[in-house]
Amino acid sequence: MIPSLIIANWKMHKTIKETEAFCRDFIVLSRGIHKTTVVICPPFTALAAARACLESSNIQLGAQDMHWEDKGAYTGEVSPLQLIDAGCRYVIIGHSERRHLRGETEEMINKKITAAVAHDLIPVLCVGETLQEREAGRAGHVVALQLEKGLQNINFSAGNLVIAYEPVWAIGTGVNASGRDAGEMAALIRSCLGKLNPSGPAPKIPLLYGGSVKADNFAEFLQEDMNGALVGGASLQADSFFEIVRLSEDA
Ligand code: PGA
Repeated sequence: MIPSLIIANWKMHKTIKETEAFCRDFIVLSRGIHKTTVVICPPFTALAAARACLESSNIQLGAQDMHWEDKGAYTGEVSPLQLIDAGCRYVIIGHSERRHLRGETEEMINKKITAAVAHDLIPVLCVGETLQEREAGRAGHVVALQLEKGLQNINFSAGNLVIAYEPVWAIGTGVNASGRDAGEMAALIRSCLGKLNPSGPAPKIPLLYGGSVKADNFAEFLQEDMNGALVGGASLQADSFFEIVRLSEDA
């Protein structure tokens, strides 16, 4: 049984004050949560504030991206060592907004995953097809290729990798994939992971769905072979995010 995982991706939202207010409210709401791992990925500027607020809770901290080098002349970048220093346990890698808006390549994503694993940060590798690719019947092919390239030469296991299936057309659009689509993709991802794993059967990697997840559609994904969600918009309010966490906990 793969434990449930719910990750908040705040993207470019929240000041330090807003982060503190969210954390205060969310800690109170989530007191009874024991089975589900909850990770909050604030912007870099609010990591320290979130860390201070979450210290006495089980809620984990993550980052939304990182560079693959430990240090150097990379203006504007943040390294794995700096993320660990800031209290991060997880890091989102290859989010479609970085692939499509920032021109992130499969090679860069692979370097980032390699660096994260080497530093004991858990990478949350995001994969997913565009609407055009889905309509052309290429969704499975695209996701398989993203996994193959992103995970090249990575010695992954159940404890050092998370995969998030996020169809690009469902992110921030209010249009979510159906539970059936997500279930089909989950099966394909598990089969790819099995083929890519050099040392035997597919490890029990947590698999998340992301793309317009809300409390009223999340149950659909819980029925499939998904172990949780990567939540954008609905993670910005403590109560709407908690509703999703509660559904996961009660499942
Ligand atoms: P959304 O974002 O929930 O707002 O669609 C999800 C994500 O981009 O990770």
